[in-house]
Amino acid sequence: MPRKLFVTTALPYANAPFHLGHMMEYIQADIWVRFQRMQGHEVHFVCADDAHGAAIMIAADKAGKTPQQFVAEIAGGRRPYLDGFHIGFDNWHSTDGPENHELAQDIYRALRKEGLIAERAVEQFFDPVKSMFLADRYIKGECPNCGAKDQYGDNCDNCGAVYSPTDLKNPYSALSGAAPVLKSSAHYFFQLSSARCIEFLQQWTATPGRLQPEVLNKIREWFATDGEGHVSLADWDISRDAPYFGIRIPDTADKYFYVWLDAPVGYLASLKNYFGKKGWDFDAFMADPAVEQIHFIGKDIAYFHTLFWPAMLHFSGRKTPDKVYVHGFITLGGDKMSKSRGTGLSPLRYLEVGLNAEWLRYYIAAKLNARVEDIEFNPEDFIARVNSDLVGKYVNIASRAAGFLAKRFGGRLSADLGVEGRALLDGLRGASGNVRELYEEREFGKALREVMLLADRVNEYVDRHKPWDLAKQAGMDAALHDVCSVCIEAFRVLTVFLKPVMPALAAQVEAFLKISPLDWHDATRSLGAHTIGTYQHLMQRVDAKQVDALLEPPAPATITPGGEALAAEIGIDDFAKVDLRIARIVNAEHVEGSDKLLRLTLDVGEGRMRNVLSGIKSAYKPEDLIGKMTVMVANLAPRKMKFGVSEGMVLAASHADEKAHPGLYVLEPWPGAEPGLRVR
Ligand code: MSP
Ligand code: ZN
Repeated sequence: MPRKLFVTTALPYANAPFHLGHMMEYIQADIWVRFQRMQGHEVHFVCADDAHGAAIMIAADKAGKTPQQFVAEIAGGRRPYLDGFHIGFDNWHSTDGPENHELAQDIYRALRKEGLIAERAVEQFFDPVKSMFLADRYIKGECPNCGAKDQYGDNCDNCGAVYSPTDLKNPYSALSGAAPVLKSSAHYFFQLSSARCIEFLQQWTATPGRLQPEVLNKIREWFATDGEGHVSLADWDISRDAPYFGIRIPDTADKYFYVWLDAPVGYLASLKNYFGKKGWDFDAFMADPAVEQIHFIGKDIAYFHTLFWPAMLHFSGRKTPDKVYVHGFITLGGDKMSKSRGTGLSPLRYLEVGLNAEWLRYYIAAKLNARVEDIEFNPEDFIARVNSDLVGKYVNIASRAAGFLAKRFGGRLSADLGVEGRALLDGLRGASGNVRELYEEREFGKALREVMLLADRVNEYVDRHKPWDLAKQAGMDAALHDVCSVCIEAFRVLTVFLKPVMPALAAQVEAFLKISPLDWHDATRSLGAHTIGTYQHLMQRVDAKQVDALLEPPAPATITPGGEALAAEIGIDDFAKVDLRIARIVNAEHVEGSDKLLRLTLDVGEGRMRNVLSGIKSAYKPEDLIGKMTVMVANLAPRKMKFGVSEGMVLAASHADEKAHPGLYVLEPWPGAEPGLRVR
């Protein structure tokens, strides 16, 4: 019976391009999906951009774009990554699509009808200049513990203290610099604390086979238990006040769903959008009890997917997920490759330096298992694994046999194969069930180790029979023909086992062997006296230089221009984040009490003026600057300084050791440049 599978990966925030962590998740899910398709199962594999939330709204505002434009630009850059790494989503949508607005509102209405939505007043910091409530990360001030300046609203970078934003001394809004005021507003809560929710979630999470054991253990920690064994969960605040980029809460004028309410609904929205394009019946599909709903996610978002999401679905009368498959993080030299850290390896750069996407797929697959374990991208290990397994063991089998078959036998395979050859092939085919189980359980590392052991057996067979010797001996044609045919058959069976991981390579093999696309059952079939095509080189070895180009910062500079070594190499993506603009210096004046700063009024063509505090007093008189053009960083977060808020930075050149090499030179464009032009 073919299974019906609805498979998703987490919806990435639409505020940055993909990093390696995203690709790892997509590769894991894509391998599993391709494997299921090879079994003949029906799979619908979808994803979408997670478009909403305060962070994206503010980032868009800073970039001078509407949130819709901002998100569309990020979404527009997704293709090269997905195609480049052979990620076969059936659909890519957005949580800002109409399907999601409708579905999220429907789910909310159903929850309200169930009596699970409560309204309560919440007191929060409010920015009187921007007229908006401030999330913790947009409030800064002095640490209540150590007094360090410019600390975020939730914890101190300097002493590590954790506190709430209202504890900060001299708090200010990171958006406007203004002092925030406390203001009360009505919020909506999903009553997870209700007995029905607790009971449902305890039963749902503990259903055998649904969650990995370590995930279940974590969930048990999240359920707080009092002395009498009563379990509790806190209610979930699902509303945010305008302005917010999100979905309007029905029957309110200015409330929006918190982004994590509508984000997972985006799974359904993307599927619905896809079914709409195909003319299929989405509601019928979701009502079909045979459908298995499966989410692949990282460990950091398990809470949302194993508590909030199933409760939302269940109490709105919908099907709940059958499985939530949680993976660990991929790290590079121990550093989390998350966008917030800004570290990691760019998947696009990986492709640009000429590294093969399927090497990474293979390497990641070889490290993955069904547990929530972090894996490390280790460059030496990567090179060794790919070269020894893929080139040395697997591709080698075909390249050793194909030439003789073409030259001596017109590419036609022998139907006999000999006793030993048949036994070898039976062994390979007999492993099909075991390899299948391992893929099904997401034990990809074990599956690939098993496949490489089979490849070893084939290579041992080749070494025993030495086709290169047989080819030189008279009367050994039949033996040579059998050995080479066994190799090709074995190679074909191994290709079936590797196809979920390396679909493009498998397609090349299918063309070379002149066979139709391999599915799983082809592992246990035999080709017989089939004629294959001519062998063309299937895969190169990894060149360590390519990996160096990907990872290595430039060699330490022997000359230190300007008194300091060059900063680490960046990609064009990093550079593009800095928005440099031509600005006219409309006014310049001394700052009372400061011996370093000048206060500049800059016109960047926005229809308003920018106030910029610039440390150039030692080199320029205000009257010499007025009317001049210069270059400024226009998308730098506003900074509150002792003398006011500075809304950008003017560019100037100086030596690293200003004392020994005084001199400060503000940049000026060539004549003709107008305020607002971007410098790129
Ligand atoms: N937008 C939310 C998810 C909403 S799902 C309804 C989000 N986005 S994210 O872009 O931050 O992360 C997307 C996925 O990438 C998550 O599953 C996350 O765990 C995963 N990863 C982020 N960094 C990772 C690694 N370094 N390694 C592996 N996966 C990691 O969270
Ligand atoms: Zn502190």
